[in-house]
Amino acid sequence: MAAENSEPSNAPKYLQKVELTQENKDLIATLPCDAFCEPSYTIHQYDGFWYATKNLQGILNSKKHFKAHDSDILLVTLPKSGTTWLKALACAILNRKIHYPTNSDLDENQSHPHPLVTANPHDIVPFLEIDLYIHKNIPDLSSFPSPRLLASHMPYISLPESVKLSKCKIVYLCRNPKDMFTSLWHFIEKFAPQVEEPRSFEESFESFCEGRNPYGPFWDHILGYYKQSLERPNKVMFLTYEDLKSEPARVLKDLAEFMGHGFTEEEENGNVINDIMKLCSFENLSSMKVNKTGKLLSGVDNNVFFRRGDVGDGENFLTSDMIEKLNVIIQEKLGKHGVNFHIHNS
Ligand code: A3P
Repeated sequence: MAAENSEPSNAPKYLQKVELTQENKDLIATLPCDAFCEPSYTIHQYDGFWYATKNLQGILNSKKHFKAHDSDILLVTLPKSGTTWLKALACAILNRKIHYPTNSDLDENQSHPHPLVTANPHDIVPFLEIDLYIHKNIPDLSSFPSPRLLASHMPYISLPESVKLSKCKIVYLCRNPKDMFTSLWHFIEKFAPQVEEPRSFEESFESFCEGRNPYGPFWDHILGYYKQSLERPNKVMFLTYEDLKSEPARVLKDLAEFMGHGFTEEEENGNVINDIMKLCSFENLSSMKVNKTGKLLSGVDNNVFFRRGDVGDGENFLTSDMIEKLNVIIQEKLGKHGVNFHIHNS
């Protein structure tokens, strides 16, 4: 794989420009392009989805170079759907025998503290198309213990073939698009000082509704995995942020089972499920020192991944017209197929 980072720079990795390989440059030149959130943030349409230039290079490289193992577990989300939460939960499930979620391992001064105490979930579970195949934050995947826990924002159609053909498992988490867009908008705003001509909330909302945002259209992304989860339930697990919020114990139990690390009867009768939920709760993770003041290997502040962690926050920011417009799209594109973002009262 050719080196992608351009000239040496002191800027954090996420701000550095990426030099495209000639092959990717040639391909990208043939694709439709547009701009998202600012005129210079170019997005390209590939396989029916829109990607920032850098991410598209990461996707093309992942497709070419990544070899899935049967034991891999891939966590897939659209940005701002609860990726950080899912990564933390999966990490706590896999690590619970070595690091019980409430014992003294949570003291960062221990010789072997829980991984979630010393690193943000994004540095524990790398994104294929960002950390591994653009920035190379995690250089040596072969050193990863099995099962390898990996992540991606890629739509199903763009996944490397070996992911689709191997027995590796995919956990897909999505979120009500109204909350996802609102979360995305706040996330972009954090980076706004580095942007010269940011687009307005309204303009970005219109692009989102047309599916022209990174990894969009959201409906095709969600439906791609939803259909796979119906056809191959042992391969793809489909979850919503709203299910996790309203039925955490049931979802966590199903998730551990799906990952091949189901809870024993003794564990179910004990507190481990609750303890994992508490360890990974918004309140707990966001108040940890590493997440308050630390930075990712890419240079992004860990605290940008924690804002409110609520269901329904979109309603506080979108106008009633915007809510109506998005409700129609959600119903037309997803509801009709059986996808909903209901909160269950259990
Ligand atoms: P809000 O902006 O609505 O608060 P992602 O992890 O995919 O980037 O998504 C970020 C969203 O998930 C943010 O939503 C963030 O606050 C929320 N979040 C982060 N950690 C969480 C957790 N442990 N539990 C619930 N929500 C969480």
